[in-house]
Amino acid sequence: MGEELLRVEDLFVEFKTGSIVTKAINGVSFSLHQNETLGIVGESGSGKSVTASAAMRLIPNPPGRITSGSIVYKGQDISQLNESKMRKLRGNEMSMIFQDPTTSLNPVFTVGHQLMESIRIHKNLSKREAKQESLRMLELVGIPAAKQRLKMYPHEFSGGMRQRVMIAIALSCQPQLLIADEPTTALDVTVQAQILALMKDLQREFGMAIMMITHDLGVVWETCDSIIVMYAGQVMERGSVRQVYDKPLHPYTWGLLDSQIASDQNSQEVLPAIPGSPPDLSFDVQGCPFADRCPYVEEICRESKPARVAIEDGHEVACHFQTDTSELTRKEEANIGASATGS
Ligand SMILES: Nc1ncnc2c1ncn2[C@@H]1O[C@H](COP(=O)(O)OP(=O)(O)O)[C@@H](O)[C@H]1O
Ligand SMILES: [Mg+2]
Repeated sequence: MGEELLRVEDLFVEFKTGSIVTKAINGVSFSLHQNETLGIVGESGSGKSVTASAAMRLIPNPPGRITSGSIVYKGQDISQLNESKMRKLRGNEMSMIFQDPTTSLNPVFTVGHQLMESIRIHKNLSKREAKQESLRMLELVGIPAAKQRLKMYPHEFSGGMRQRVMIAIALSCQPQLLIADEPTTALDVTVQAQILALMKDLQREFGMAIMMITHDLGVVWETCDSIIVMYAGQVMERGSVRQVYDKPLHPYTWGLLDSQIASDQNSQEVLPAIPGSPPDLSFDVQGCPFADRCPYVEEICRESKPARVAIEDGHEVACHFQTDTSELTRKEEANIGASATGS
């Protein structure tokens, strides 16, 4: 891993709709290094996309607002940077790929035109050079017959090909930071694997850092170095992928891993992930936000918010019972005993 590229520290984001204030992000911290792929996982609504948008300073205001915290990119706090400087940064250093490529490509222009425009904005190239570069980018992302494809419109491409085009556009500025928000969710499994392999290849070539947002823990396992597990706008656990998969510390992480295993085994059925639902973020959450759904909840969990503590090097968890491993073991035994007797 290279130098630290991005550091988000104690970030808070709110959305105000009428008189309702949704506290979407509540004290998120993490860092990302050159060449590193960081996975952000969590159920729908946990704040993954808002975290990514905040890092790019793309929170729509109104209704959204970063209320506190810092976003440090290459040593500079960009949380207050003016829009014109931010736009430059977004064009030259940071790129984002969204889930649905159909909404991100303009249907009335050819793919070549859109790619060329993006290249010409970021690089000072002639039309001819930009066309050459577009061709090279399409070939790079594995689009066959690239020369003919440049003249085609987005609707003439399959979903997987459109997502490749989006990746080509996102990479055309050779970003140092690529944020991919569920980039393969809309694609079938084979295409998904191809796109992910492509992103890893391009990372090797360009040395960029990737923030990979996904609800699929299999994708994280395949592609990421480190992971943060989000819930109710907070980081419940973070560590290297190996640490978190070998030794998940938060009951929420256990739940996510269990439901993933269950859904892998029953790919036909839609399984409820973890029983219950996340807290309403328009009310203040006292204590641990997972308390209502946690099978190990105790009084203290509802009373005070657990601090995030490091259990081993780089592996952190926000749970009252993780600092006392004997307590955890006791609970685990009790739980195994209970299920063994069928109660
Ligand atoms: N434009 C918005 N206006 C109001 N609330 C929003 C907006 N965008 C996101 N939120 C709220 O922020 C929370 C986190 O959303 P999001 O980051 O999109 O979740 P995820 O990507 O993990 O599914 C949700 O409660 C959502 O309702
Ligand atoms: Mg999202």
